[in-house]
Amino acid sequence: MNIVVETDRLIIKEFEEADVLSLYKIESDKKIIEFLPWVKLSNEKECRRQIKKYINEYKKNKLNSWAVAIKETGEIIGITRLIYSNKIKGVELGTKILPEYWNKGYASELSRAIVDYGLYELGIDEITAVTDINNAGAIKSLINMGMQLKKYGYYNGTEAAFYSIKRE
Ligand SMILES: CC(C)(COP(=O)(O)OP(=O)(O)OC[C@H]1O[C@@H](n2cnc3c(N)ncnc32)[C@H](O)[C@@H]1OP(=O)(O)O)[C@@H](O)C(=O)NCCC(=O)NCCS
Repeated sequence: MNIVVETDRLIIKEFEEADVLSLYKIESDKKIIEFLPWVKLSNEKECRRQIKKYINEYKKNKLNSWAVAIKETGEIIGITRLIYSNKIKGVELGTKILPEYWNKGYASELSRAIVDYGLYELGIDEITAVTDINNAGAIKSLINMGMQLKKYGYYNGTEAAFYSIKRE
């Protein structure tokens, strides 16, 4: 298991081939898709292909997608990623957590850790997160982890809030 970052309660690790069903459970969850309708992996086959892609990318890129697991049980409860985005011309943070684990502070906790990893280990100057303006949970988790509102705008046709944090 290749761990990227650990927090008090969570492990952020590279995806492995054995994680296909966990990825599918997250990617097919209706409540998650509600706020991210443009990202869809609609079946297990696509998830298997996606994991192979991730594994291949780990060898080449520092910016990636990773699995979020509960330390005590090993259960994968989410995905987080740092990617270069052409839309914002910079590095973007994205996180998905299974709804049964919402509002327990997991996104705030892991975002803080993965953003620190990006800013201080990878040397990124600024990390941005974009969220639907109606996505109150996402906005709160970004504020909790220390991001600040940069602007409002459109993202994939959706009215969005752009939050960001810079290296000190
Ligand atoms: C956004 C998401 C990752 C947040 O995960 P989470 O683990 O529940 O986040 P946290 O528990 O760290 O923080 C959520 C905060 O929002 C608050 N919140 C939730 N719903 C809310 C609402 N309707 N109004 C106001 N605050 C709300 C919670 O109380 C919590 O704040 P607190 O800890 O200060 O009380 C999760 O909801 C998710 O996966 N959503 C679908 C995908 C998505 O939208 N990703 C974000 C793209 S930027």
